[in-house]
Amino acid sequence: MFASFQTYPADPIFSLLPRFQKDHRPRKVNLGIGLYYDEQGELPVLPSVREALTNIHTQSKPSSYLPMEGHSDYRRAVQQLLFGMNCPVVASGKVSTIQTLGGTGALRIGADVLKRHFPESQVWVSEPTWENQLAIFKSAGFDVHRYPYYNPYSQSIDFESLVSCLKGLAPRSIVVLHACCHNPTGLDLSIQQWNEISSLVVENCLIPFFDFAYQGFGNGIEEDAYAIRAMARCGVPCLVANSFSKNFALYGERCGALTFVCPTPEQAELAYAEMVNTVRANYSNPPSHGAYIIANVLLDSTLHELWRSEVDGMRIRLQSMRTVLVEALARDNHGHRFRHLLETRGMFALTGLNARQVETLRDEFAIYLVDSGRLCFSGLNAKNVERVASSLARVSTEPTPIS
Ligand code: LMR
Repeated sequence: MFASFQTYPADPIFSLLPRFQKDHRPRKVNLGIGLYYDEQGELPVLPSVREALTNIHTQSKPSSYLPMEGHSDYRRAVQQLLFGMNCPVVASGKVSTIQTLGGTGALRIGADVLKRHFPESQVWVSEPTWENQLAIFKSAGFDVHRYPYYNPYSQSIDFESLVSCLKGLAPRSIVVLHACCHNPTGLDLSIQQWNEISSLVVENCLIPFFDFAYQGFGNGIEEDAYAIRAMARCGVPCLVANSFSKNFALYGERCGALTFVCPTPEQAELAYAEMVNTVRANYSNPPSHGAYIIANVLLDSTLHELWRSEVDGMRIRLQSMRTVLVEALARDNHGHRFRHLLETRGMFALTGLNARQVETLRDEFAIYLVDSGRLCFSGLNAKNVERVASSLARVSTEPTPIS
């Protein structure tokens, strides 16, 4: 009966975690999956979250179903965070938000809604991108293509090619954009470049779909929302898939949201209906625990401020690990090969190492990067950064194998 079933090739990111956990070498370092580790190498429980947990626990509500669109306070808090307090676009009723199963769930619900109404559209993701975007949009039935984003030779954004590709797209093409902390390159567009993309989207009648998983890890909570806010202000219809996995360190709670910014309040109502309809047909309604925690933090002014300072702390540590790593590499006379890391933001950057070099790092030095050469800075700390630098230097001097 099930003879046509196929094996699932290991996910390049998730398959690394069990391999890392099974590695018994004491000096192993996990620079693979996007989990934020603190200076002690631990996954933190943020003090704001800890306090919210106590608050929720004392309220001790029975566990009923949430509505299909999720917890209303949570949805309100999401809109404030995405668009800023007292945003006129939100106040005008043109924005609809539902709670989703992480950012991934938001991308998928959005993809399903778009597929129903734009069945002929093609989806365009950046080259390179977080590979799961391809799987999500393909599973929703779309043809997925890649727009140029990164030049591996100059190790910088190829903005000219990006613009010329977007100019050639058919109207109503869906363009998936990383709002900040581009995964995997860590290279983000400047404000001026975003403004150009925004005009282009309007001229060519494209549908921007923001993937926003790292708010606060780039330049700051408000700064990282620039592209989304700029498009919303200019009345550009768009979708936003955001996630709280990283900035609340609540990976297992699967807390995200999907937002439609619409031209009119009536259309926003209809976008809401489409999203809810899609949720019902997929999983009925989201889980409540994580949403209660996040709403409790974001809607309490003291906890909210505390959380902002915690996010600032995580961002500052990520940035400082970049600098320390590049300085250590420079002492090894390899600074020039890795200088581009200083331009990157968020959790990740592409080191430029190839899959063979990544394998050597893993096998000989117990240092785990994704095969693409993506390095997650949060796994670095004062104890391991020198050893990581010297290992990177060692493998990068090996002759590059002919593939
Ligand atoms: C990552 O890119 O490492 C994270 O976003 C985890 C994932 O889902 O791939």
